[in-house]
Amino acid sequence: MVAKKGLASAPVRGRRVLVRVDFNVPQDPNGQVADDRRIVEALPTLNHLRAAGARTILLTHLGRPGGHRDPRYSLRPVVHRLSAVLGQPVPLADDVVGIHALEQTARLANGQFLMLENLRFHPGEEANDPAFASELAHLGEFFVEDAFGAVHRAHASTVGVPKRLPSCAGLLVEREVRELSRLIERPEPPYVALVGGAKVADKLPFLESFCGRANSLLIGGALAFPFLSARGLSLGATRVDPGLESAVDAFLRRAEAEGTEVLLPTDLVVERPGVVGAETHPVGGIPADAIAQDIGPETRDAFSARLDASRTVFWNGPLGRAEDSRFRDGTREVLSRLGSARGYHVAAGGDSARIAQDLGVTGSFQFISTGGGAALEFVQGLELPGLAVLPDA
Ligand code: 3PG
Repeated sequence: MVAKKGLASAPVRGRRVLVRVDFNVPQDPNGQVADDRRIVEALPTLNHLRAAGARTILLTHLGRPGGHRDPRYSLRPVVHRLSAVLGQPVPLADDVVGIHALEQTARLANGQFLMLENLRFHPGEEANDPAFASELAHLGEFFVEDAFGAVHRAHASTVGVPKRLPSCAGLLVEREVRELSRLIERPEPPYVALVGGAKVADKLPFLESFCGRANSLLIGGALAFPFLSARGLSLGATRVDPGLESAVDAFLRRAEAEGTEVLLPTDLVVERPGVVGAETHPVGGIPADAIAQDIGPETRDAFSARLDASRTVFWNGPLGRAEDSRFRDGTREVLSRLGSARGYHVAAGGDSARIAQDLGVTGSFQFISTGGGAALEFVQGLELPGLAVLPDA
């Protein structure tokens, strides 16, 4: 990955600086911020801009309001949390663009912040509409991309604005790129990818990207089911996505040809109607009425042995139904044992950061990405439009 121009020497004093952040944070049922990690991780950039005397205008999306103003997706709770974390009030402009936003940005003093309302209240954001991008760009004199979680989107704020203003990468984006690049540029072997979650159809291209790059690929969660089923193993009453046999077969052949070992569960923790508590069965002997929910102890040991012997580890996705406390032991055990393995360990994508936090295993990782889809695309070696548009260092 070519290094991008960074923030350190950017001329920001007294200038209106547009900063794209990814404050698309989970909210609790009362609409309050349930996890402020993405806000906290943006602090190095925000503190730098404050100390350098910039007039900072923050841009983010929250959820998918679909181009309409929807109070459920207002950034009000986000600015509330941001103000507390920054130790300085951050006012929220009522709109994204328009006369009021323009007036408020013009009134900013050096070291102050303003946040614009949810970018996705405006249909021009996701459409990367040129008129909307120009209006946004008009609010600032310089652009900083610090929304690593959104750089895989070619939207007005991630691509349109940096095309129209002098730009650079923020400190979080720089850090994400530096850390995740270690996985794609000569990772120290043995390199082991541990991947769980569901939806094989969505994740197959992602799994394929490890062929020839990782030494071992350990597959858990519902993601493993179509692989087991393609091997002719019955999973009882477990739902297995149909029609994937030939894709799964082709993947396994490619992994073998390219020298990547694929490890699948050999035992599973299941739930059965009328039976209190969970049972463990070998994959060849799952009862007809059982639903597979987690990897079993033998699989945990086999996965942990590979991880112990590794020098580089990438983890994405739970190995069982981690949202249910009865079926999170597989993920917890494997990830906590990873904590005593040497090497460089990275977690990324989807809910992985939150799961690691819930399970108390964040200490097992040297780096936990703030990116969901963006991190997975980066790790696949794909070009991300929000990075490609930034000037090289
Ligand atoms: C994310 O949470 O992955 C990013 O904020 C992107 O959100 P999106 O998938 O709605 O574009």
